[in-house]
Amino acid sequence: MGDWMFPRIIISEKKLKSNIDLLISKCKGHGISIMGISKVFAGNLPLLEILKKSGVSYIGDSRIKNLKKITDCDIPKVLIRLPMISEIEDVIDYVDISFNSEIPTISQLNDLAASKNTRHKIVLMVDLGDLREGVLAKDVDEIVNIINDMKNIDLVGIAVNLTCYGGVIPSSKNLGELVEIKNKIEKIISRKLEIVSGGNSSSLFLLEKDNIPNGVNNLRLGESIAIGRETAYGKKIEESHDDVFILQAEIIEIRNKPSVPRGEIGMDAFGNTPVFEDRGIRRRAILAIGKQDVSHEEIIPLDKEIIILGSSSDHLIIDITDSNEEYRVGSIVDFKLTYSSLLSVMTSKYVEKKML
Ligand SMILES: Cc1ncc(COP(=O)(O)O)c(C=O)c1O
Repeated sequence: MGDWMFPRIIISEKKLKSNIDLLISKCKGHGISIMGISKVFAGNLPLLEILKKSGVSYIGDSRIKNLKKITDCDIPKVLIRLPMISEIEDVIDYVDISFNSEIPTISQLNDLAASKNTRHKIVLMVDLGDLREGVLAKDVDEIVNIINDMKNIDLVGIAVNLTCYGGVIPSSKNLGELVEIKNKIEKIISRKLEIVSGGNSSSLFLLEKDNIPNGVNNLRLGESIAIGRETAYGKKIEESHDDVFILQAEIIEIRNKPSVPRGEIGMDAFGNTPVFEDRGIRRRAILAIGKQDVSHEEIIPLDKEIIILGSSSDHLIIDITDSNEEYRVGSIVDFKLTYSSLLSVMTSKYVEKKML
């Protein structure tokens, strides 16, 4: 029965492993380890199991609920979103390394680790211009000195996040600043940092040009692993797979209808006033999937002749007039996904997950 429940997402284990192998071998030649970012797996156990055994050096996730599900893991589990103070007990108990930038949080981690008679490892986030999380270069000395005095915290690395909020492209210049900061910190703490993490899938294009400065020894990869895309310019990575995940939805109605609604036009189900192009009578299909599962703007039909018209919470409307396929009620339509649509369908409990 489970095999025939729709909508569902079909996952190719072989293609996922092949993407990871490809990226590991690309990075290895440059002395760079990979932190496999699992957030898009949304805690899916078979996928976490694959990542665990894939040869990546760390597993990183932004949600502690996902990291808690990973057990018997030989590689460190890393919380890549700054911890909430309200979750620090779980951070100490379930996470090997957490990314941090705030003394109030690190201080509470220190106190809790002390009370549990344990130690906690942290990576300091540095902001090199993208303006999401991280301390500015000018504040690094002060914060490192404070952390260095904490008895139960080990500062094991630094990391930068780029091309996330501000769209800043990684370069030998900004990653060079990261290496300068690493050198400065190593002087203050009189030991080497284990992790110097030079960004996410947007840093991959620098590998091709051999433009990642010496001293950067890690990248954190999510989108490139899952859908084979680098994220500085949005290009497909050569020899990778962009169809590891395929979304399938079922047709529940096919009818020839006008392309413009009849009657006075007010708001659609989401409060917007829709606009329509008159293309005459068209053959339209309705699929049993909707905005509750995924945005119709973020899915790509494998049948290139399909036009996506729109969606409401539970209905996706497509135009199949130009297609050569013989669609019927009950037919299944396949879609490739972007990273954000993959995140939403993996998160939706209404979408079945089927591993090939
Ligand atoms: C801190 C951090 N590092 C790495 C990643 C992975 O980014 P990407 O999917 O572009 O590889 C993310 C986002 O998922 C992130 O928030």
